[in-house]
Amino acid sequence: MNCKSRYPLVPGRNQSINHGDASMSVAPAPAPARAPLAPRAPLHGRARLCPRPPRSFHEHYDEHDALVPEISLARLTVHEDDVVGRGAFSECFGGVLDGARPVIVKRYLDVRGRDVRSFYVDDLESARGTRNCDGVCPFAGACGVERWLVWEDVGRTTLEDALVEGGDRAMETVRAALGRRVGEDDATTFRAAFASLARSAASVHAFDFIHRDVKPANAVLHEKESRVVLCDLGACADARTGRNMSGDEAIFDPTYGAPEQFRRVETRGGGFPNLGGLFGGGTRDGGMRLEASGEPPTTMLDAYSLGATLLRCGVPSLRAPGAMERARRDIDACGGDVERWRREVCVPGVNDWSLVDETEAWTTIVRLTKVDPRERWSLERALESDAFLSGA
Ligand SMILES: Nc1ncnc2c1ncn2[C@@H]1O[C@H](COP(=O)(O)OP(=O)(O)O)[C@@H](O)[C@H]1O
Ligand SMILES: [Mg+2]
Repeated sequence: MNCKSRYPLVPGRNQSINHGDASMSVAPAPAPARAPLAPRAPLHGRARLCPRPPRSFHEHYDEHDALVPEISLARLTVHEDDVVGRGAFSECFGGVLDGARPVIVKRYLDVRGRDVRSFYVDDLESARGTRNCDGVCPFAGACGVERWLVWEDVGRTTLEDALVEGGDRAMETVRAALGRRVGEDDATTFRAAFASLARSAASVHAFDFIHRDVKPANAVLHEKESRVVLCDLGACADARTGRNMSGDEAIFDPTYGAPEQFRRVETRGGGFPNLGGLFGGGTRDGGMRLEASGEPPTTMLDAYSLGATLLRCGVPSLRAPGAMERARRDIDACGGDVERWRREVCVPGVNDWSLVDETEAWTTIVRLTKVDPRERWSLERALESDAFLSGA
């Protein structure tokens, strides 16, 4: 880790701002209510945003859109010592399909008191529904009885890895993983990576899905195609079927989540905010709790999360673990106004804004992180007319 500074604050000011521990959160955590199946709406914009035909890897499985691509256990070898990622409810390993094809396999863990099966089903249904979408990791299928979900291995480095391991030199890591020209300047890499990530999120929208968990850890650097694609569709909302479209089952990471999804509720005593729910592990006494606002999800959630991701990548002092969580709390303490936060909270001359300013990404960050979703730019609009995102 070679970030020199970790988002320093104006001395004295940070006392007035709560910096609780940062954890993934879902609040509250009811058993997911399944909306009745609605007839499929036409996929508006799909042709424009997803111009590629389905890749050959999928064609084999695509005879019936409604079928889960099923992989027999005999075809899959899982390398449990090759850990790709771990979360609260799942772990991902490297593996091989049909003796030759490298894959990423995900297994859901049994967690007492949690309906992990519904997470598995959500992940599977979203992977199935978006498997012709080129903005997500290519899905290979399900294996075993609610056991493995399998994706083609297109690269092991996430944007999170690049930020944490690369620190000040994160763009170099991104450049190398995407196989871009050695010696390319950081601004060009930054622009290309984010235009690609924004296109990927927009292509999810073109399938009438809302990702709801756009963040660096879910952005995979696709090494073969030099693109940034999304993984972890477990929190996806599906506008075609109504799955996860109820606003009171909000799933979000509070560091990247749009403000309209939740409100902070003070529990007795005040003090540190605490993130209850699915990943947060309940409410802490004397703290703050995040509560779902009840707003049904819209594609503007992903626009906000992409804006927050862009901010973290653009400013080296926000790349270290924990720095963005603190910054987000300060941004929220400024009423969500990132311009005010930059002006009043960030120490002048300490944070390095050169990448963000030089590329005009600051304007993009401001547009995508507007508190009011009616003022916020959608990814589709930004890809068309925002200088930073449309220029790459
Ligand atoms: N298809 C994939 N390709 C590459 N890496 C992946 C893939 N799926 C998951 N990962 C890695 O595993 C981590 C955890 O998987 P994820 O699906 O995000 O589960 P969780 O719900 O625990 O966040 C990711 O952050 C990423 O590093
Ligand atoms: Mg994830």
